[in-house]
Amino acid sequence: KGTFVVLASGRGSNFQAILDRVSDGYIPAVCTALITDNPLAHAIERARAAGIPGEVVSFKSFSDKQAYETALIATIQKYNPDLVVLAGYMRILGSEIVRKYSGRMVNIHPSLLPSFTGLHAQEQAVNYGVKVAGCTVHFVTEDMDAGPVIIQRTVPVFENDDGDILSDRILVEEHKAFPQAIRLFFQGRLTIEGRVVKIDTNQAPSPGRD
Ligand code: GAR
Repeated sequence: KGTFVVLASGRGSNFQAILDRVSDGYIPAVCTALITDNPLAHAIERARAAGIPGEVVSFKSFSDKQAYETALIATIQKYNPDLVVLAGYMRILGSEIVRKYSGRMVNIHPSLLPSFTGLHAQEQAVNYGVKVAGCTVHFVTEDMDAGPVIIQRTVPVFENDDGDILSDRILVEEHKAFPQAIRLFFQGRLTIEGRVVKIDTNQAPSPGRD
């Protein structure tokens, strides 16, 4: 079976949703580690509960970003994963690490990219006044929130929404989209052609299929 590691900085609800879909067999792969830059991340508790190693590579304990990323790469390499999953990992990764895992690193962002990159995407959507919002799972490239799109899921935006209400609505879809994308990756159904991801639909439907 293929393996992946998850990088998360905080709450870890996407990490949990992914673990749940590994447990029930929907994702045909094994999660071998949780890696966090934040020693207080709740994701660490989730890893412990699932019996998965939790590695803390604390940004603050390194002198600069280069030293941090060297340590981060070394930690990821300990597990030699087929895929690196950024699930609420709130730092911009440098070019060395992004190149090293080119085509093998995915991120989730709480907007319909290319709209609303960066922080507080849901609040940006409310303030802009869009009527549809959502989430995007994409391959990671050197340009932030700009890599080839794998899956997007949408939600309506209502007039009385604020950033928190919209975040909760989008999060429900994140918890579906991320497992879907990871499943497709490990089924070998994703091909990157330029900036477009092609999804192979010529595979026999299987029981867990959405
Ligand atoms: C999620 O909404 C994710 O899309 C977002 O952070 C949240 C993490 O929640 N990521 C970004 O904004 C990346 N720029 P979680 O820790 O409960 O999965």
